[in-house]
Amino acid sequence: MRNYHIVELDQPRDDAPGAILTAFQGVEALERDFDLARHGNDDQTDPAAAMLSQYRPSSDSEYVWLLAIAGDAPAGSTTGRFGLLVLRPDDALVPTDVVGAVNFALPLRDNRDAVQDIMMHVRPQWRRHGIGHALQTAVEQVAALRGRTVLQGYSDARASQAADALHPARGPFAIEPDEGTAFALAMGYQLAQAERHSVQDLTAYDFAAPVSPDGYRIETWTGRTPEPLRTHMAEMLRVMSMAAPAGDFHFEEEIWDAARVSAMDDEVLDAREAIVSLAIHERTGEAAGLSQLYRTIGKPAVVDQWNTVVAAGHRGHSLGLVLKQANLVRLADVWPEARRVHTWNATENDYMWAINERLGYRTENIDAGWQKRL
Ligand SMILES: CC(C)(COP(=O)(O)OP(=O)(O)OC[C@H]1O[C@@H](n2cnc3c(N)ncnc32)[C@H](O)[C@@H]1OP(=O)(O)O)[C@@H](O)C(=O)NCCC(=O)NCCS
Repeated sequence: MRNYHIVELDQPRDDAPGAILTAFQGVEALERDFDLARHGNDDQTDPAAAMLSQYRPSSDSEYVWLLAIAGDAPAGSTTGRFGLLVLRPDDALVPTDVVGAVNFALPLRDNRDAVQDIMMHVRPQWRRHGIGHALQTAVEQVAALRGRTVLQGYSDARASQAADALHPARGPFAIEPDEGTAFALAMGYQLAQAERHSVQDLTAYDFAAPVSPDGYRIETWTGRTPEPLRTHMAEMLRVMSMAAPAGDFHFEEEIWDAARVSAMDDEVLDAREAIVSLAIHERTGEAAGLSQLYRTIGKPAVVDQWNTVVAAGHRGHSLGLVLKQANLVRLADVWPEARRVHTWNATENDYMWAINERLGYRTENIDAGWQKRL
């Protein structure tokens, strides 16, 4: 049996992150190896510096990183906010000591019953030694302490039509059984949804200028949300939280206001750049739609599509397509190094996929969404 111990990563101090940065370098290496083996690229591997800058106290969510560290816990280790051993900035660590990692968010404003966005990786040579199980036990300890009863996460997966494929409740894709699905099922999770991960090749895109439908105007900006549009942005993010098909996931409506939009910008833009478009209905002045592109600082070729939503009363005017085109026209101007856009959509979301297909997206793989009720 291999020796390891589970630690909670201390929140870094600005001046001297020490072992916290080293730990993120270990996580970056672990995730890059996984992504290269699985996808042949490291587009989705966050640089350690970005992980570090996003691991801050936030009014939006309490963020948690739990790591499996090779070897026994050093003498004198102390416990932290969850009763778990804590890895502190002054501890001795080299990146290869990190042999497993899980991170997740505890939403603070809404969805206060949930642990969200659980992502776990264990180094291949260290698998089947109980590390995943030990990390999952620690996740459940945190959940219990914070009164959370729903655990939600994702694993990178592939589509399959074989007889042993796992079928989500909705959508055309079934999931190939692999170690991620075997582990999730063994830990008591259920397949809640299949997500289509697709990629747009910007070198093959013609950057067509959008034609706004009559009665609407498109506002496009880079960086922070302009103050006069924060309320509109908040409304679209609230709508988005209930509009996208959720499969069997239990999601509550998110509570957004202008202050939360501003706080989100402060937090997210510490490690990323943004291009955002809002559609405004001119007669009423209300927000009709939103689409957001982000890229991580240090990865100029790789763009991630975040939310795209059109409010119910404004659908059927091509606003989804127009918003995405508006962002891409701006992208050609301000992010000339950008080569690819990644996006994730519920596999049952035919409307979004129809738009993405027109924009030249190709399906790369199907991810599995998992949920466990405690
Ligand atoms: C999934 C993953 C995190 C599991 O980590 P691990 O440390 O090997 O997990 P454990 O050793 O604690 O396994 C716990 C149980 O999960 C199940 N399991 C894990 N890997 C399995 C596999 N390859 N085949 C069948 N069952 C498996 C078993 O029931 C195992 O218990 P057992 O060893 O007593 O039979 C690891 O394989 C990994 O990093 N995979 C790639 C990333 C990924 O898919 N992450 C998402 C997970 S939802």
